Amino acid sequence: MPAPLPARLLDAVLDRLVVPGYSRLGPAVRRRWWPADPAPGSMTGTRVLVTGATSGIGEAMAGAFLALGATVHVLGRSRSKTEDLVAQLHRNHPGAEVVAEVCDVGDLDAVRAWAAGFTDRVDALHGLVHNAGALPPERSETAQGHELTYAVHVLGPHLMTRLLADTLVDHAASVVWMSSGGMYGATLRDDDLEFRTGEYSGVRAYARTKRMQVVLAAEWARRLAPRGIRVTSTHPGWVATAGVTASIPGFGKAMRPLLRTAADGADTTVWLVATRPVSTGEHFWHDRAQRPSTLGWERGQDPAAVQRFLAAVAGATG
Ligand SMILES: NC(=O)c1ccc[n+]([C@@H]2O[C@H](COP(=O)([O-])OP(=O)(O)OC[C@H]3O[C@@H](n4cnc5c(N)ncnc54)[C@H](OP(=O)(O)O)[C@@H]3O)[C@@H](O)[C@H]2O)c1
Repeated sequence: MPAPLPARLLDAVLDRLVVPGYSRLGPAVRRRWWPADPAPGSMTGTRVLVTGATSGIGEAMAGAFLALGATVHVLGRSRSKTEDLVAQLHRNHPGAEVVAEVCDVGDLDAVRAWAAGFTDRVDALHGLVHNAGALPPERSETAQGHELTYAVHVLGPHLMTRLLADTLVDHAASVVWMSSGGMYGATLRDDDLEFRTGEYSGVRAYARTKRMQVVLAAEWARRLAPRGIRVTSTHPGWVATAGVTASIPGFGKAMRPLLRTAADGADTTVWLVATRPVSTGEHFWHDRAQRPSTLGWERGQDPAAVQRFLAAVAGATG
């Protein structure tokens, strides 16, 4: 049942004013009217893969999926960190099934090799969460010569989705891209996708690739809709994590009292996978509600630019 009109108006005001909506105040207020929590045990018998699970929001998601009864595959790029996480999750969730997956999401050859092994072992996946993310201080390239944020946020997850598509369960699976509210400040560009021209800014590359994730998720939503697979993107608000402390320390320090917990940052993704709400348009969510993916002054994406962007992603991922 939709929230009453005053609650929806307050919700929209919190969102457009950014600070109250994105901070810990957002879920504290919205929790009063947002849709119900998934029932305990409601994910028993399902299998979810979370990338970037070795820290922050991804780690919180893994715990939340286990608490709902799912089998969780936690994917990290460091074997030791990933195995330490599995041991810790086993301690916190005795009897739960947790599987370590090791893969650098930005290395397309590694994604191909890992996905071949995964699909040999697993034939039914109910949740695929593209959460791995990075905001590098300087431009760097992956083994295949792609700019790092483009590879980790866009190319790797796109390739992974394609390679795992046959394991996604019809009418029961969800795919979620963890984007960022920072993408509101970036339009979709279909030129210079590798950030080769001009002075490199990690913040700009981050925002632009987070915008690309939203566009890509909408395209995957369209492609997988005939199979009843739900694809969305989301943003977590401003969350206290090691990533924020390391990448934007000034922001992290100034905003510390207002930052959300990792559990609050993970909440909407877990809810999207567990409850599979119907979504439309650009399929972008925050705090258990669908949000516009562009603001008033730049409504929608240029369809021709979207097609050129998608063709470039397809070309780069073979
Ligand atoms: N925190 C926020 O306020 C905020 C706001 C908007 C969006 N987000 C998004 O939320 C997601 C999680 O962020 P977070 O704040 O939890 O950050 P975090 O603490 O830095 O965690 C990022 C995770 O991604 C993993 N990762 C990075 N590059 C990878 C790669 N190439 N292959 C595989 N894994 C990789 C990291 O692995 P290691 O442990 O090995 O480093 C880590 O597990 C990101 O996509 C981020 O952009 C966060």
